[in-house]
Amino acid sequence: MQKKILVTGGTGYIGSHTVVELIKEGFEVVVIDNLSNSKVEVLDKIEKITGTKPVFYQFDLCDFERLEACFKKEGNISSIIHFAASKAVGESVEKPLLYYRNNLQSLVNLLELMRKYHVPDIVFSSSCTVYGQPDKLPVTESTPYQIAESPYGNTKQIGEEILKDTCKAHSEIKSIALRYFNPVGAHESALIGELPLGTPNNLVPFITQTAAGIREQLSVFGSDYNTPDGTAVRDYIHVVDLAKAHVISVKRLLENLNKSNFEFFNIGTGNGYSVLQTIQTFERVNGVKVNYKLVDRRPGDIEQIFADTSFANKELGWKAEKGLEEMMSSAWKWQQTVK
Ligand code: UFG
Repeated sequence: MQKKILVTGGTGYIGSHTVVELIKEGFEVVVIDNLSNSKVEVLDKIEKITGTKPVFYQFDLCDFERLEACFKKEGNISSIIHFAASKAVGESVEKPLLYYRNNLQSLVNLLELMRKYHVPDIVFSSSCTVYGQPDKLPVTESTPYQIAESPYGNTKQIGEEILKDTCKAHSEIKSIALRYFNPVGAHESALIGELPLGTPNNLVPFITQTAAGIREQLSVFGSDYNTPDGTAVRDYIHVVDLAKAHVISVKRLLENLNKSNFEFFNIGTGNGYSVLQTIQTFERVNGVKVNYKLVDRRPGDIEQIFADTSFANKELGWKAEKGLEEMMSSAWKWQQTVK
């Protein structure tokens, strides 16, 4: 029988790509999303790619009653992938309570209902932000946490703690937290991709919008970092590779292959690229120019981070397959479809 997976935030950027991979692997998918940062048409795009439109509920996960009604109606949920969360670092500094409520109350609601309705497994969207600026690179899963730089980062750290404590106290619950590095790129069909509302905060959407003429100029934040070209270094990962890591994690939990009730993995490529290298790769593979200027550092940015992915490679049997060129070409192909 098809296993039913509940995907919160399933119309969002990483969520929608993961729904596609789940359907391709034969899972039945139920999506919950409040559409605060995504569009309902994404479900039609998912249907175009896979031939299947997932069941969809539109509500906020902080609404316990509606969430419980969904658990009751759906009945036999095998596993949850929990993406739904607010994710803008700067906004979280302005509106910390919104972030603590959205990102943590929703998680607690899910865990309480998982216990009540006997749903055993949850995969959680964590972030490399839990490491702050590490002393040693690349970062392994045993690299210690740093004090979070923002309420957003704090919600990811606390989210992991909530899962760890819950899995310890209630052994019927198992969880995997995936610590994403910098997800970029889009599905090869160019039917789904990243759709930031308003001015993008992140580098790659800003690059593509500048190349498309929607933004006049890209500001490169900081050119005096202690890196080969002075600009900050990140581990960019293709969103489809990241989506596949979720499917593998769901299967690991379903098949009880996990080594402990709470596991966490770095999900990156292991390669660090600077902002300038990223822009240059974009320009080269797509044959377009990006108008940029070097400006001051952005407050709160770290200098460099990239993952040691050997634990995920060995334990999950997962490895990123797509390189920076594919990330940049798919991001551009997607941008050109956005009206
Ligand atoms: N950058 C620019 N110009 C821009 C946007 C970004 O130069 O217009 C630079 C940033 O300063 C940084 C790099 O590009 O050096 C990457 O920035 P992003 O905003 O794309 O990504 P971050 O690494 O800042 O943030 C990402 C996720 C967060 C997460 C964080 C953890 O978006 O959700 O990683 O480090 F918290």
